[in-house]
Amino acid sequence: MALFQSSSTSLFLLFHIALLSTLSLAADPTITFDFKLSYITVSPLGVPQKVIAVNGQFPGPLVNGTTNNNVVINVRNDLDENLLMTWPGIQMRRNSWQDGVLGTNCPIPPNWNWTYSFQLKDQIGSFFYYPSLNLQRASGGFGPFVINNREVIQIPFAQPDGDFVLLIGDWYTRNHSALRADLDSGKDLGMPDGVLINGKGPYRYNTTLVPDGLPYETINVDPGKTYRFRVHNVGTSTSLNFRIQGHNLLLVETEGHYTVQQNFSSFDIHVGQSCSFLVTMDQNATSDYYIVASARFVNESLWQKVTGVGILHYSNSKGSATGPLPEAPSDIYNQWSAMNQPKAIRQNTTASGARPNPQGSFHYGSINVTDTYILRSLPPSTIDGKLRATLNGISFVNPDTPIRLADLNQVKGSYKLDFPSEPLNRPLRRDTSVINATYKGFIEVILQNNDTKMQSFHMNGYSFFVAGMDWGIWSENSRGSYNKWDSISRCTIEVGFSIWTMCYRICGMLMFLCCGKTISVLEISCTLFLFIFYLLIHLL
Ligand SMILES: *[C@@H]1O[C@H](CO)[C@@H](O)[C@H](O)[C@H]1NC(C)=O
Ligand SMILES: *[C@@H]1O[C@H](CO)[C@@H](O)[C@H](O)[C@H]1NC(C)=O
Ligand SMILES: *[C@@H]1O[C@H](CO)[C@@H](O)[C@H](O)[C@H]1NC(C)=O
Ligand SMILES: *[C@@H]1O[C@H](CO)[C@@H](O)[C@H](O)[C@H]1NC(C)=O
Ligand SMILES: *[C@@H]1O[C@H](CO)[C@@H](O)[C@H](O)[C@H]1NC(C)=O
Ligand SMILES: *[C@@H]1O[C@H](CO)[C@@H](O)[C@H](O)[C@H]1NC(C)=O
Ligand SMILES: *[C@@H]1O[C@H](CO)[C@@H](O)[C@H](O)[C@H]1NC(C)=O
Ligand SMILES: *[C@@H]1O[C@H](CO)[C@@H](O)[C@H](O)[C@H]1NC(C)=O
Ligand SMILES: *[C@@H]1O[C@H](CO)[C@@H](O)[C@H](O)[C@H]1NC(C)=O
Ligand SMILES: *[C@@H]1O[C@H](CO)[C@@H](O)[C@H](O)[C@H]1NC(C)=O
Ligand SMILES: *[C@@H]1O[C@H](CO)[C@@H](O)[C@H](O)[C@H]1NC(C)=O
Repeated sequence: MALFQSSSTSLFLLFHIALLSTLSLAADPTITFDFKLSYITVSPLGVPQKVIAVNGQFPGPLVNGTTNNNVVINVRNDLDENLLMTWPGIQMRRNSWQDGVLGTNCPIPPNWNWTYSFQLKDQIGSFFYYPSLNLQRASGGFGPFVINNREVIQIPFAQPDGDFVLLIGDWYTRNHSALRADLDSGKDLGMPDGVLINGKGPYRYNTTLVPDGLPYETINVDPGKTYRFRVHNVGTSTSLNFRIQGHNLLLVETEGHYTVQQNFSSFDIHVGQSCSFLVTMDQNATSDYYIVASARFVNESLWQKVTGVGILHYSNSKGSATGPLPEAPSDIYNQWSAMNQPKAIRQNTTASGARPNPQGSFHYGSINVTDTYILRSLPPSTIDGKLRATLNGISFVNPDTPIRLADLNQVKGSYKLDFPSEPLNRPLRRDTSVINATYKGFIEVILQNNDTKMQSFHMNGYSFFVAGMDWGIWSENSRGSYNKWDSISRCTIEVGFSIWTMCYRICGMLMFLCCGKTISVLEISCTLFLFIFYLLIHLL
């Protein structure tokens, strides 16, 4: 069904945006951006490669907004393939047309531009944007997206003396089309070639492991001050352990929700996740300190090169950082360790969020569940000659007509409403199969990872309560262990192998998508591989 493809699509969508923008509140300020996506050549790991830049910058520029701002971003596609920009975690309530994922939007063809327009309604926090199609994020195009509190709203900590963004992520010297070709020929992506911090390679902490002359990231600080570090895993498939030598990380936020504040000496950040830490410069300035992002839940002796290293430089520092990196946690073969940190992340229910009233628990624990979905992921398998992951045995195939458009225009046959609510023992297949959920229902989603690797699941355009997580196979009895009071609400959750995680979500929006895989981001899966499922809530 190609009813809305090519130019007619864009006209149709344009019409829609015009309608929506007349509805936005005139009193709220509008911030506008022009984004031009094009290739530039850089050598973050010493190998020249074409990366995706935004306005010539890699990573892209900061979108710095405030709660309730209207955001207008005119995106120009100067790449050689289709493009969609997505803003995960930004709540597109009743406005999934601006999501920038293939399930709802048609892509922007090369040499076209498209203007995204949405409001940062009732939100605060640290997010990032990136191109959602065709594994393009593995070549760049990402950048930070911050939503500041309105001035009248208190934050649950003293105003920091400064604010830094660190985009950390695994990196391949092969570009996204080469990675795609590998998956399509049935091959695994293999070990990444390194980890970049803000688009830069590692500091030369070891002359054998790191070649000379790589640019590296330096964060300049003053002694005694406290800074907010917004750290995002923008990578493709690797969970990272983040740490700053000699310094505590006080966790204060994950993806737009304030957490109970706790110190960590290192913190695991999984693909797609965002965390804010307050870091006090309370060490002596004998030397600089290492900032490290190293591969986690893999055999670290084999994965040594998959380590990003930056420098924390005190203004009165007397020398460069030397010696070995601060040690990574050594508990990867302990099945419980993967869960200790995520279980410790809880919401500070008395802190104000985007509004003056406390974030609260919304009493999610006492709402009756309408539907339960047990979604089991299996290791990627070859289906029709391509390497694809599955959820409940189905690898999602994107329809030609985005699902939301098909739904709106009652285009029949674009997708099937037959996604099973639990795993079935039947052959794996590729299909455009969608969950038939209840509008305004309250759903329980159990993510059961039957893969052998850590996975991230992201829900687009909304967040959910992470009410439980445990080892083994989920059963009805597992409900007894749910945290029904102060679970964190976030948009991306990791699920370790042979672990289940339970998420609650209140549905009231048009549609959301979840997805995961070793390559854990849904939009990637849409086009290429792996799985995705759509949960469609009928409004019309
Ligand atoms: C990506 O890599 C492939 C294979 O090395 C090459 O043919 C292609 O031109 C590259 N694309 C870009 C945009 O650099
Ligand atoms: C972002 O906006 C906030 C609030 O307007 C401002 O305080 C801050 O300096 C801005 N940050 C940058 C990097 O422009
Ligand atoms: C494309 O960009 C131009 C200005 O650069 C703007 O006037 C026009 O509205 C944009 N078109 C779309 C579809 O966003
Ligand atoms: C929770 O937020 C409140 C209100 O801002 C703050 O006073 C308190 O210290 C926070 N508690 C924790 C444990 O983070
Ligand atoms: C550098 O790394 C290599 C390989 O892991 C190791 O054998 C060597 O001891 C390291 N050198 C230093 C100075 O730490
Ligand atoms: C966290 O560690 C810092 C020192 O780095 C300390 O000043 C602070 O009190 C600790 N906060 C909590 C909540 O443990
Ligand atoms: C500075 O800190 C380092 C690391 O904690 C320690 O080894 C060193 O002795 C300290 N130097 C001074 C002058 O306090
Ligand atoms: C990790 O890799 C090293 C080097 O190949 C190997 O000797 C070791 O057995 C591996 N460890 C585990 C637990 O698989
Ligand atoms: C939940 O379901 C129970 C039993 O069906 C019912 O008694 C109760 O009123 C419901 N609670 C809410 C909040 O709807
Ligand atoms: C979806 O669910 C609704 C409500 O349970 C039902 O009426 C409808 O027939 C279902 N649609 C399909 C295609 O199964
Ligand atoms: C996958 O599921 C099967 C049966 O439910 C179980 O025997 C196996 O151990 C599981 N594997 C993993 C890696 O969870």
